[in-house]
Amino acid sequence: MPDMPQSTLAAALLGWYAAAARQMPWRGQSDPYKIWISEIMLQQTRVEAATGYYLRFIAELPDAAALAAVPEDRLLKLWEGLGYYSRARNLRRAAQVIVGQYGGSLPKTARELLQLPGVGEYTAGAVASIAYGERVAAVDGNVLRVMTRVLDDDGDITRPDTRRRIAQAVLREQPADRPGDFNQALMELGALVCLPQRPQCGDCPLSGMCKAYAAGRPAALPVKKAQAPRKTEQRTVFVLCAGGSAALQKRPPRGLLAGLWEFPACAGHLSREQALRQAREWGLEPQSAEPLPGYRHVFTHREWDMRGFLVAAERPGGAFEWVGWDRLRRDMALPSALQGFERTAFQILSREKRSNHQ
Ligand code: ADE
Repeated sequence: MPDMPQSTLAAALLGWYAAAARQMPWRGQSDPYKIWISEIMLQQTRVEAATGYYLRFIAELPDAAALAAVPEDRLLKLWEGLGYYSRARNLRRAAQVIVGQYGGSLPKTARELLQLPGVGEYTAGAVASIAYGERVAAVDGNVLRVMTRVLDDDGDITRPDTRRRIAQAVLREQPADRPGDFNQALMELGALVCLPQRPQCGDCPLSGMCKAYAAGRPAALPVKKAQAPRKTEQRTVFVLCAGGSAALQKRPPRGLLAGLWEFPACAGHLSREQALRQAREWGLEPQSAEPLPGYRHVFTHREWDMRGFLVAAERPGGAFEWVGWDRLRRDMALPSALQGFERTAFQILSREKRSNHQ
């Protein structure tokens, strides 16, 4: 594949970026810790959604020493709703390495960053290029899309050889004096212009040198091997309450949503009678079971099709952690998948409490 003349692509892209770059709280500064945190968050969610999480996180944990020392429950609460909670745990483990082996400052090269827990090629490249000006690529989904189109490369982007080829193309085009801006400009172009289904080629600074555009097929790229279909699991979720508290249990330390708090649940869709029986088996004396609206939640490899019951029990019991509603909402990290149940159950209970007082 012949290369693009280097200066043309970089100049067009950086010119566009100077005018189009969005303001982000982690931009315009070069604290590697802050850039690292933002890059991990941006693997979970879009810039608009990440901003609030980022500001709260940095206000409470402004450096690696603070992150290394934070209790796990507090860390998960700060991450609540972002998903992939192992990323948050890896951040803390990495911070402990940074404190223990690097005196509290992040290591200064992509190669050393790559040794930290949870830091892969993308994160190491993003932090090293943005914070330190190192000439390395940072290839995320946006960059893969932009570059496969510019090159009209129809290699499967789930394959390491395609990613390697794209990383090499990025390095060829990257200007030696602005690797961080160049990497971010590619990401920004992918986020704002070179969109997955409807690329805005009329607004694109690279359309004149884009081979997929010339071939009339930008939206056909990148090529990605079909994933195995997701498994759907039916579940019944129990919001068990007694005297102003609700029952929570901690998920196992490994696997999906590891270590997060959840409402007790079981496999399958239970009827009201079966739900009452289940509550008795857990050692409770249920007085009522009111159906809650159902929710679906899509994870990477599976989907939960959930029904729920609000079960009022005589008194707390069973092998659960009983937590007052205020504390539940303030301190306990509940997966997004369950927040709909938490909201509706809380509304129903507040309504009942109000009408009891009238
Ligand atoms: N997505 C992930 N990191 C980004 C960054 N630094 N700039 C723009 N988009 C991004």
